[in-house]
This record gives sequence, C-alpha cells and structure tokens, in this order.
Amino acid sequence: MSKVTVIGAGNVGSTVANVLAHRDFLNEIIVLDIKEGTAEGKSLDSWQQAPIDNYSTRVTGVTNDYARTADSDVVVITSGLPRKPGMSRDDLISVNAGIVKSVTEQVVKYSPKAIIIVVSNPLDVMTYCAYLTAKIDSSRVFGMAGILDTARYRAFLAEALNVSPKDIQALLLGGHGDTMVPLPRYTTVSGIPVTELIDMDKLNAIVQRTKVGGGEIVNLLGTSAWYAPGAAAAQMVEAIIKNEQRIFPVCAWLNGEYGLKDIYLGVPCKLGRNGIEEIIQLKLDASEMQLLNDSAKAVREVMDVLDRMNAAN
Ligand code: LAC
Repeated sequence: MSKVTVIGAGNVGSTVANVLAHRDFLNEIIVLDIKEGTAEGKSLDSWQQAPIDNYSTRVTGVTNDYARTADSDVVVITSGLPRKPGMSRDDLISVNAGIVKSVTEQVVKYSPKAIIIVVSNPLDVMTYCAYLTAKIDSSRVFGMAGILDTARYRAFLAEALNVSPKDIQALLLGGHGDTMVPLPRYTTVSGIPVTELIDMDKLNAIVQRTKVGGGEIVNLLGTSAWYAPGAAAAQMVEAIIKNEQRIFPVCAWLNGEYGLKDIYLGVPCKLGRNGIEEIIQLKLDASEMQLLNDSAKAVREVMDVLDRMNAAN
C-alpha cells in the first residue's frame, strides 16, 4: 500500500498528482488545498480520466483536511505563490516561508514517517524552511529542482543537435536560480561526450538559456511552468516508492560534501525507499568548483534572510 499526498492543487500540484496517477503504481493520492473545491474538482477530473487512460490510482481532493493525509509515504509540497514576470524566485520568500512552515507542521503531525519533497520557491530556501520545521533527518527532506533544470538543458540540447531528448544524459549542480551550474563535462548523447558534437559557443548559449529557463516561461505565461516541474517531482516520488536507487540532481542538505556545510544545494543523489540514500561527490575541476561556490553563496544569502526572519519572530 503506497500513499502519496500533494499539498497545493495549483498548476504544479495538480500536474504532480495527474502524472503519478497515470504511472499507476500508487494506491492512493490525496491532494490538499486551502481553497475550497479546487483540490476536490481537479482530483475528481483526474479520477474520471482513469477509465480512459487505464489506471486505478485513486485521486482524492480535500480542503485543508490534513487528517486525510495521515500516514503518507511521501508528501510533495507545492504550496505558495508562483512568480510573476519581473520577479526573481527570491522575491517570494516572505510569503512562501510562512506557508511552507505551517504546511510542514501539519504534514509531520499526520505523517511523521513521510519523506518530504519541496517544490515551492525559492526552492533551496523553502526546502531549508521545511527541514527546520519538520525536525526530521535531512535524508527525508529535500527539494525538486535539478531534474527540471536538467530537463530544460537536455531539451535545448536535443533541439540543437536534432536528436531525441531521451538520449541526452546530463548533470547539473547548485541552486535553483540563475547561478545553477549545468555541467558540459558530464553531458553525453548516448554515451558520446556532448563536447564532441557541438561547438562551444552553441553549448554556452544553451547553458545560459537553461539558467534562465524558468524565467523564459514566466515571461511567456505570466506565471511559472507546471508540466515539466510536475513531471520532475513525480519522477522523484516514483524513484522513492519503487526503491529504484536512481541518480538525480536533488536539492539536498550538505554536511561537508563538496566542501560545503549546513546548506541546501543541488547535488547528484541516489533516491530510494529511505529518501536520499547517498550523495554522490563528483571530481569537479577548479572552474566547476568555482561556479558551485558562487551558487552556494547566492543560496546562502537567501537562507540568511530566512534565518533573520525566524530570529525576529
Ligand atoms: C521554474 C519554477 C517552477 O523553474 O521555479 O519553472
């Protein structure tokens, strides 16, 4: 019996639930929202899609009824405001920190053994906020960003090389912001180093487009993306519930890895039934390490804002 809760029935939350339902490996998905009728309506719609798309996973929506989320194996937190054009993810901190904190309190009260995946922005710092609130081991509180950012990088590369995105393998480190660090040295196309297939100018342009990939969509839509973010979070849930030991870039609490301590940052992790089973340490060269340190610095500044907010309360 596997049960997953998705907090927030906005675009991202409802996509997570819908993608998971289609994969058909869970017994139950609860979607919770504060706005009366939203989670119920979207979940009913998902459930009515089941006979057409052939899945049995029951999707149920509730309004603020955390008792219905009890004993979830995994909880995905998507609550909070999305970006509007001209905003950075960091502009959302004060509103979303309050939301993520109160949500996390309820989540751990009803599902003390759950693994928590944070999707709310600013991602690295909201994951930190959930960790401070949940007071559980950091192997069970982490954030979704790297799969999404890597997917954008892979999609842009597939387009430039005219190959299937399925064949592009890539890694990316750092925060979920403009300082993220795509790693060309760890990017291959069916095993072929990408640097053998594309010239450096083109690759650099793709790296740059990836870094602002979320903002590109915000500018087009007036709000942030949901298909790829939702699918990315669902992929993490699947790796955990099925104990797949898959390796993804995950926003994880570092305790000396990469020379960094007491910070949430994107690094390659192995995901399985215990959450983060292992943090994988790459042998970065000096310039990659420099970019990672710059990204850590940017994330640390926003973590400090949260720490100051918490100290003032
Ligand atoms: C993005 C938002 C979800 O990157 O952070 O699209």
